[in-house]
Amino acid sequence: MADLSVEFAGLELMNPFMLASAPPAASGEMIQRAFERGWAGAVTKTIALEPASDVQPRLARLAMGRRTIGLENIELITQRDLEVWVRDIEEIKRHYPDHNLFASLMAAVVEEEWHSLIKQVEEAGVDGLELNFGCPHGMPEKGMGSVQGQDPTIAGEITRWAKEVATVPVMVKLTPNVTDIVQIGKACEEAGADAVSAINTVSVLIGVDLDCLEPLPSVGGTSAFGGYSGPAVKPIGLRCVAQLAKGTSLPVSGIGGIGRWQDAAEYILVGASTVQVCTAVMFRGYKIVEKMKEGLSAYMDEKGFESVAKMRGCMLPKITAHEELDFDHNVVASVDEALCIKCRLCYTACMDGGWQAIEMESRQVYPRVMIEKCDGCSLCLQVCPVEGCISLVPLEAGQHS
Ligand SMILES: Cc1cc2nc3c(=O)[nH]c(=O)nc-3n(C[C@H](O)[C@H](O)[C@H](O)COP(=O)(O)O)c2cc1C
Repeated sequence: MADLSVEFAGLELMNPFMLASAPPAASGEMIQRAFERGWAGAVTKTIALEPASDVQPRLARLAMGRRTIGLENIELITQRDLEVWVRDIEEIKRHYPDHNLFASLMAAVVEEEWHSLIKQVEEAGVDGLELNFGCPHGMPEKGMGSVQGQDPTIAGEITRWAKEVATVPVMVKLTPNVTDIVQIGKACEEAGADAVSAINTVSVLIGVDLDCLEPLPSVGGTSAFGGYSGPAVKPIGLRCVAQLAKGTSLPVSGIGGIGRWQDAAEYILVGASTVQVCTAVMFRGYKIVEKMKEGLSAYMDEKGFESVAKMRGCMLPKITAHEELDFDHNVVASVDEALCIKCRLCYTACMDGGWQAIEMESRQVYPRVMIEKCDGCSLCLQVCPVEGCISLVPLEAGQHS
């Protein structure tokens, strides 16, 4: 069986799966139940010197059919006092000494505030710290959260303050709401960070209730921009993790849209050492870690990866600058008539969004690809509802006139 244990910023984790700083890690009782289920680590809901109070409601989802694609939240940091968290941390570590507990911290750009927070959670027994430079709503107006992660000078300065007093590893959680996440990651690295995590939520407005004429999530008729999470943000998270893994030497904890073992495998392949999960647990509970561990381990066995460390970053050499891609790699679409249901989706897409390379006079005939017109863009394959019906085959010399 593949070895799921990982070394991360000097800590030993029994597997790469951690709860992200969010509602599933909102109290000691919850974190202990998650550890019991098999999560190796957790990052507490963000703790500050003063707790927050939240609006109601504060969630709204984007669905496609019954499936949730993404979730917007306008929730703030923890509603619980620091002293309550200190007691919770002590209790978690008493019962689960071998699990890894990170305290997520947030404060203003004031050295003493960071020092005070760090000393208190460290004395309670945390194994690591996560500096929250990522929350995109509510806190930035108070000079905290993503405004700190959007400025490399501030991000570096706070990291330096944290490293002055911290005796446990310092991880910095970055926001994707920046032009260049590597610039921020490098500033934290230069300031002595031991790891980075990415991504915090993506700043969005999820929608408008057309009947009530209210922006969503509606708090008695008004709303604010919030943070987007869940499956829709995975491509953004993967891009950020790959950029950080390529552009810095820091270990990376991958976050964003992870809910299946396949998502975790993708994050590890593009450079993550550990992964963190929030929305999938909010929707389906702590138990999802069991299938994720089983699935990841089976996949590693199948592909011959003996350990997470051996698998980590294997895709990075294959992610290149666009100009380095092979412009002589030419393909054309091919339709398998045995599978085709004559739905005409490929025909319409190619006519109005592609290269007018598919012929289909009526629903009675199969679509026919005109090779000389096909530009190999793959739009027909993207819209085809039947798996395997349309494929891309190499263009043989002389097929295009
Ligand atoms: C309701 C909600 C509350 C959150 N609260 C925090 C928080 O207090 N601190 C933090 O660093 N991230 C917070 N997050 C962000 C998550 O930790 C995570 O970065 C993000 O949701 C992407 O991961 P996911 O797609 O697995 O949810 C919150 C997310 C949600 C949905």
